[in-house]
Amino acid sequence: MKVKSIIIATLALLMAVSCFGQKTVSIYDFTVKDEAGKTVSLADYQGKVLLIVNTATRCGFTPQYSDLEALYEKYHAEGLEILDFPCNQFGEQAPGTIQEIHQFCTANFDIHFPQFDKIEVNGPGEQPLYTYLKAQKGFGGFDLNERLGKLLDDMFRKDDPNYDQNPDIKWNFTKFLIARDGRVIKRYEPTDKMSDIEADVQMELNPVLSNIMARRSVRKYLDKPVEHEKLELLVRAGINAPSGMNRQPWVIRVVEDQKLIADVTEIYKQENAEQVKRDQDFKNMFRNAPNLICICTPAKGGGELDAGLLGENMMLAAQALGLGTCCLGGPVRFLLSNEKCRFFLDRLDIPEDYRLNYIIAVGYPNEQPDAKPRDISKVKYIK
Ligand SMILES: Cc1cc2nc3c(=O)[nH]c(=O)nc-3n(C[C@H](O)[C@H](O)[C@H](O)COP(=O)(O)O)c2cc1C
Repeated sequence: MKVKSIIIATLALLMAVSCFGQKTVSIYDFTVKDEAGKTVSLADYQGKVLLIVNTATRCGFTPQYSDLEALYEKYHAEGLEILDFPCNQFGEQAPGTIQEIHQFCTANFDIHFPQFDKIEVNGPGEQPLYTYLKAQKGFGGFDLNERLGKLLDDMFRKDDPNYDQNPDIKWNFTKFLIARDGRVIKRYEPTDKMSDIEADVQMELNPVLSNIMARRSVRKYLDKPVEHEKLELLVRAGINAPSGMNRQPWVIRVVEDQKLIADVTEIYKQENAEQVKRDQDFKNMFRNAPNLICICTPAKGGGELDAGLLGENMMLAAQALGLGTCCLGGPVRFLLSNEKCRFFLDRLDIPEDYRLNYIIAVGYPNEQPDAKPRDISKVKYIK
């Protein structure tokens, strides 16, 4: 049954893809029905931050309607939309017509966000929007450190020890956060904290914060070097970083010469033949990027902190310009330890009292990597 539902979900998504030909499917390609049965295109919500949620009126989580309304009131003016899809698939806890559900929600929780027609979110009758959302962000597990999360995990696992292996929606009040540009950035299980969701919403509403959150290390690039003018912008953003006593203890070399990158990659290929052969996407030794920003710090040491701040400025500027980057330490070790790479370092023309510290690979991204987990438990607030 589970396998069947995965196959159906995959087929539905493939059909959606073929409907749109070569075009990449985005959330704005889907239509849904509003409370009155009228078709609504999600394209109407372009540029907004969206929280999409499947709800039920008779669920233990139903009081979350209050939290959702509070979130909506606080952030709607800044661009947040909450799209509510009642669904009766979990414990039949959303009975009645959509009109009855809507009346209940306005009477009890005074909701003001759009409530759409009832839908199915799993199985053969699932709304294609949900097929898409689940394909973008599968089930990441309940938070087992939380009592309710543990309880739900135990409950589902009893029925099916592998329940967590498929992307199906597990229960009412699962939520998806969509960025202003349509990226599905996060999925929250019903037990996830509303305060975490609010922090993410705040991040996405603010253009600087959402740019910071969207940056990922990119390792697949289009065959298209970055325009010189854009590289100049990155450098200007970089050197605007703070440095101790404004000493600016760095030297920067921007590599636009494609032949230089190709030539030094030949040395790398000779030394790493097996690894390169295994990597079908291999283009060059700098994680396949067409351009490099080489950052050098004083040879006698120091300046590393300043150089790091400089680099992050550049990577965030690149992100804001639609470029991808990857901070590289490995290739630098290779360049510095291999005498055959001398010609590359010579071309960089680094002053004697500086040494190559790290490289930022930059180019037009050809992938959208998922965010890797961050450990918030490393942080303590001393109040
Ligand atoms: C100092 C430093 C050196 C790194 N060196 C490499 C590298 O040699 N190769 C690589 O693929 N990624 C490298 N990375 C990228 C990290 O793997 C990446 O930042 C980390 O996995 C977090 O992923 P994210 O950048 O997508 O958030 C480096 C990052 C830093 C900060």
